[in-house]
Amino acid sequence: MTTSMTTLVTTSMTTSSCQSTVQLYDLHPPLDDFRSEVLRGLMQPAKSISPKFLYDKQGAELFDEICELEEYYLTRTELSILQAYAPEIAAYLQEAVLVEFGSGSSQKVRILLDAMPDLLAYVALDISRQHLQESCENLAIAYPHLKTVAICADYMQPLELPNIPALQQRRRVGFFPGSTIGNLEPAEAVQFLKQAAILLGAGGGLLIGVDLQKSPDILEPAYNDAQGISAEFALNVLTRINRELGADFNRDQFEYTAVYNQTAGRIEMYITSLTAQTIHLDGVKIAFEQGERLRTEYSYKYSVPQFQALAALAGLEAAQVWIDPQQLFSLHYLQLPKR
Ligand code: AVI
Repeated sequence: MTTSMTTLVTTSMTTSSCQSTVQLYDLHPPLDDFRSEVLRGLMQPAKSISPKFLYDKQGAELFDEICELEEYYLTRTELSILQAYAPEIAAYLQEAVLVEFGSGSSQKVRILLDAMPDLLAYVALDISRQHLQESCENLAIAYPHLKTVAICADYMQPLELPNIPALQQRRRVGFFPGSTIGNLEPAEAVQFLKQAAILLGAGGGLLIGVDLQKSPDILEPAYNDAQGISAEFALNVLTRINRELGADFNRDQFEYTAVYNQTAGRIEMYITSLTAQTIHLDGVKIAFEQGERLRTEYSYKYSVPQFQALAALAGLEAAQVWIDPQQLFSLHYLQLPKR
């Protein structure tokens, strides 16, 4: 473990047929300094807000709504790939401990667990302790024979798994679905993959969902839907800043846009100021010109060779890739050479 303070909480759930246990290791990830990070981003010449701040309670609910949208093909396509190829994918996960990065509600992993009734251990890594505990308890009830270990930690930081036999004696395979890697700049993505490779170790693997490059006619509506949920999701961060930091953003004076930058291979999401205006935050005046943009997110899209080349920079070798028939989304299995 990297932090000196680790709390172990063991919860047992008894169902009508058996007893399930979850071990939760709380590494006490440091809280983000919301105020200073927001201020720093707003005071740069090109204004930005880190996408991690989009996910307060309201933001997380709005993101769940995005995942259900007709235009947002990513979630249902990745699920369809997992379902269609579950037995084949399971063959790569034999004799392994499965480690999910950013496990959230642990829904997608259930498709894998259903295909691997003899998997011995599942490790869920997530920064939100309450969410992590609840979803792992539900999982332990549904899969009582599975050793379920929950680790409350920031998986973007280097970390080690707890020193318990079930996790130490087997090869490890990571699971990072959702194309969340696309929200990192390529250099950050390589950094994340390098850290994941250290945690997974020699002979391990990584199953990772990556959105594919495609026509802006499909990409742009996925990030700017007709119902305006994507806009609501981005603009919600202004409401959060007003509520938590006492700022005075008027959301009606801003507009959300999502554009595909073909050269960079990414969707760029912005909140644009409709007028020249000044925002007050913590005694600081932040001036916006009319038409000035505040970036909320990038979402990189990769061709299969592009992503495989990125993974190779982190020492991960391409072993297999599964793609849906419409070629919208890819699920890669990358492996770490045996020592
Ligand atoms: C979480 N992440 C993979 C989403 C994406 O597709 O880049 C975030 C998102 N932002 C707006 N819509 C979806």
